[in-house]
Amino acid sequence: MDLRNSMLLALLLAVTCSVAVAYDPLDPNGNITLQWDVISWTPDGYVAMVTMNNYQQYRGIMAPGWTLGWSWAKKEVIWSIVGAQATEQGDCSKFKGGIPHSCKRTPSIVDLLPGVPYNQQIANCCKAGVVSAYGQDPAGALSAFQVSVGLAGTTNKTVKLPRNFTLMGPGPGYTCGPARVAPSTVYWSADHRRRTQALMTWTVTCTYSQQLASRYPSCCVSFSSFYNSTIVPCAKCACGCGHHRGHAECIMGDSKRALSAGVNTPRKDGAPLLQCTSHMCPIRVHWHVKLNYKDYWRAKIAITNFNYRMNYTQWTLVAQHPNMDNITEVFSFQYKPLVPYGSINDTGMFYGLKMYNDLLMEAGPFGNVQSELLMRKDDRTFTFSQGWAFPRKIYFNGDECKMPSPDSYPYLPNSAPSRSRIASSLASGLFLLMLLLVV
Ligand SMILES: *[C@@H]1O[C@H](CO)[C@@H](O)[C@H](O)[C@H]1NC(C)=O
Ligand SMILES: *[C@@H]1O[C@H](CO)[C@@H](O)[C@H](O)[C@H]1NC(C)=O
Ligand SMILES: *[C@@H]1O[C@H](CO)[C@@H](O)[C@H](O)[C@H]1NC(C)=O
Ligand SMILES: *[C@@H]1O[C@H](CO)[C@@H](O)[C@H](O)[C@H]1NC(C)=O
Ligand SMILES: *[C@@H]1O[C@H](CO)[C@@H](O)[C@H](O)[C@H]1NC(C)=O
Ligand SMILES: *[C@@H]1O[C@H](CO)[C@@H](O)[C@H](O)[C@H]1NC(C)=O
Ligand SMILES: *[C@@H]1O[C@H](CO)[C@@H](O)[C@H](O)[C@H]1NC(C)=O
Repeated sequence: MDLRNSMLLALLLAVTCSVAVAYDPLDPNGNITLQWDVISWTPDGYVAMVTMNNYQQYRGIMAPGWTLGWSWAKKEVIWSIVGAQATEQGDCSKFKGGIPHSCKRTPSIVDLLPGVPYNQQIANCCKAGVVSAYGQDPAGALSAFQVSVGLAGTTNKTVKLPRNFTLMGPGPGYTCGPARVAPSTVYWSADHRRRTQALMTWTVTCTYSQQLASRYPSCCVSFSSFYNSTIVPCAKCACGCGHHRGHAECIMGDSKRALSAGVNTPRKDGAPLLQCTSHMCPIRVHWHVKLNYKDYWRAKIAITNFNYRMNYTQWTLVAQHPNMDNITEVFSFQYKPLVPYGSINDTGMFYGLKMYNDLLMEAGPFGNVQSELLMRKDDRTFTFSQGWAFPRKIYFNGDECKMPSPDSYPYLPNSAPSRSRIASSLASGLFLLMLLLVV
């Protein structure tokens, strides 16, 4: 029992401490890779196909979509773009006749909306900047546009790679490395009988850090169980109370305003309008330990949206639990195991079924989705005591959610409370120690 206790503590500590690093242990190879393929040289520059590949298993880019920026190394201009556009033209006053699409030294590019005329489209463009998570929809996990660059080098020796790439997706959080020359991309013809290759290729890798994205979590977790009537709510102010991004404002769910017209209209800056709760999170994930059978047990997951201004399309949920490798059935969600380190098999992702519950509606009566999981008990580790049946980590849309404090987990009626109190003071002591070591 004590061993199990300390293992749980170690896990909880890992949860707390993982917040301090950028690297995501559940998706160690997750990144967004930009690939520039020069497909032709022009009299004053080149035409490049730019592809954004999202290799993150469970983190996509939601509406209002990505914004990609960089700095030109010399005095390059963008003559034209197909499948995207620069947000600003900048100062093109020295051009006579043909006017470039953008003369900014640091252009910002956004995707076009679906439904633009065909002659402005290109394969994988025009999705309003929305990119799926790779684990959910590999075919939708990319975005592309074609750019014609002038006043640039016209050979692979004279081209200067763009610098200082930035990616917003849609908010902050991504950091991009330098552009690096890569082996030229090879293309096969449709009948697979002819091979062509890019004249030059370079790539840029961008990685996500939740710390850069926001000081506060964007979701929280609450617990309940059949064996104890206590409901463990989300931690108070789990997502910050009134300190950030218009969160000061919230409306009561039963107020007149919640029902008034316009309350659901998204804002340009993406500011949420939250239903007032003690946690002030836009998303709550509730994990209920529902039933105990002889060889199986059942948990229920409910995700609730408290933001009146957001519909989450293609949402994803990640859960880490030691019994995850024995999932037998998942009702009304899609399930996919994530295997970050081959041998560990305790993490899985969930997402909605197309046209059924892949849209998590705005706050209100339809603002929730739910599922039940049936897991086969692993005799060596299975127990309802010490909060074992609750998940170790939960992520929503790629952001780690705030867990309840470990000393509040519902416990079995017959388990000794003093032990868990000792455990929790031990946990906070260790945590302080870790903090001291980190700082
Ligand atoms: C980006 O992700 C891909 C796919 O997981 C991986 O092959 C590649 O090595 C990663 N790149 C970097 C620089 O981490
Ligand atoms: C890139 O950013 C660095 C640091 O912000 C700056 O010193 C440098 O001038 C920038 N490069 C270009 C080409 O804008
Ligand atoms: C540039 O082209 C030459 C020959 O066309 C080739 O040998 C060389 O590897 C290329 N360099 C790059 C960086 O692509
Ligand atoms: C969410 O989707 C519904 C149905 O498509 C739509 O009526 C509503 O206006 C949308 N809400 C937001 C906040 O975009
Ligand atoms: C993880 O569990 C899944 C589902 O039970 C199984 O298909 C897969 O082979 C397991 N992987 C490893 C590495 O144990
Ligand atoms: C649970 O999964 C693990 C790893 O896949 C396997 O070794 C074990 O036998 C499974 N337990 C049950 C009860 O199916
Ligand atoms: C249920 O768990 C809580 C801890 O979250 C504890 O305070 C309470 O005594 C437990 N209830 C019973 C009936 O044991």
